[in-house]
Amino acid sequence: MKSNRGEKPDHIGDRIRILKDWLYQIEEHKEGKKGRIVSICNLKGGVGKTVTAINLSAFLAAYKKRTLLMDLDPQGHCGLGLGIDIENLDKSIYDTLSDGARSLTDTILPIKPNLDILPANIDLAGLETELMAESHRTTKLGEKLQSIKHLYEYIIIDCPPAIGLLTINALVASRMVIIPVQSSILSLYGLEKVMETIGTLMESFSLDIRVYLLLTLFEVNLRESWIVREKVKLAFGELLLNTIIRKNTRLNEAVRRGISILEYEPRSMGAHDYHQLAREIMEIE
Ligand SMILES: Nc1ncnc2c1ncn2[C@@H]1O[C@H](COP(=O)(O)OP(=O)(O)O)[C@@H](O)[C@H]1O
Ligand SMILES: [Mg+2]
Repeated sequence: MKSNRGEKPDHIGDRIRILKDWLYQIEEHKEGKKGRIVSICNLKGGVGKTVTAINLSAFLAAYKKRTLLMDLDPQGHCGLGLGIDIENLDKSIYDTLSDGARSLTDTILPIKPNLDILPANIDLAGLETELMAESHRTTKLGEKLQSIKHLYEYIIIDCPPAIGLLTINALVASRMVIIPVQSSILSLYGLEKVMETIGTLMESFSLDIRVYLLLTLFEVNLRESWIVREKVKLAFGELLLNTIIRKNTRLNEAVRRGISILEYEPRSMGAHDYHQLAREIMEIE
């Protein structure tokens, strides 16, 4: 065996560099497991974005994944859907995003073990206009998230039903975007527009995000729902998630009660479907 004793310092330097690279890769891999940012986005309202954001977060938390649910819709439905008095928040996400010095941690509220929320209210509507005057107008959210990413395994962002600066900020910060698609023929027209817009954004901002489609409000007894599934599968292939979210009034009731479906009716179809979704998302990375 050759002895290393006589090794020249530059050889040792090379070895240290190799070791450093390797350690860096391990760290990067570990980092990758943290702070996976997933935006729930569609230009259309009423397609199940908020119900998906709330219940996906609840099931990820139940799997002991530290999860932050971030409401980026000025309607504040995420907070409402989890029983938060959004009209009387001490601080909302607006305050943190409009004040450069303030950290997102000031605004985070714990909901239950492993689940925190960053609630929004109508104040957030003013942020789009404020952001327009800023040079970091599309990266502001991503920059803010850098300092809290390590605290969570998943950060789920509920986007507003429009492509404005709020949604662009969410997409720029995200690693994955889930587009809920209502299982109706009409929604296919909207889907074309959404995919086009996201494609354009990905190109203009050089975004590296994975886009997935999720069928929602699926009615198993309606031929239309199955036709929509077939068409979407044909057009988008593996971008369509296997999980299907069926129409289930329990989901609607849970939102109105201000709790997730997991607490409200864990044996319902809605709970089954969102459980399935959480498992599928955890398997993706
Ligand atoms: N799978 C479902 N089954 C029954 N009702 C649903 C389902 N998903 C959403 N809803 C209801 O449909 C309405 C719109 O859903 P929501 O998640 O608020 O949509 P968005 O955030 O896209 O506007 C809400 O009243 C919600 O409770
Ligand atoms: Mg919503």
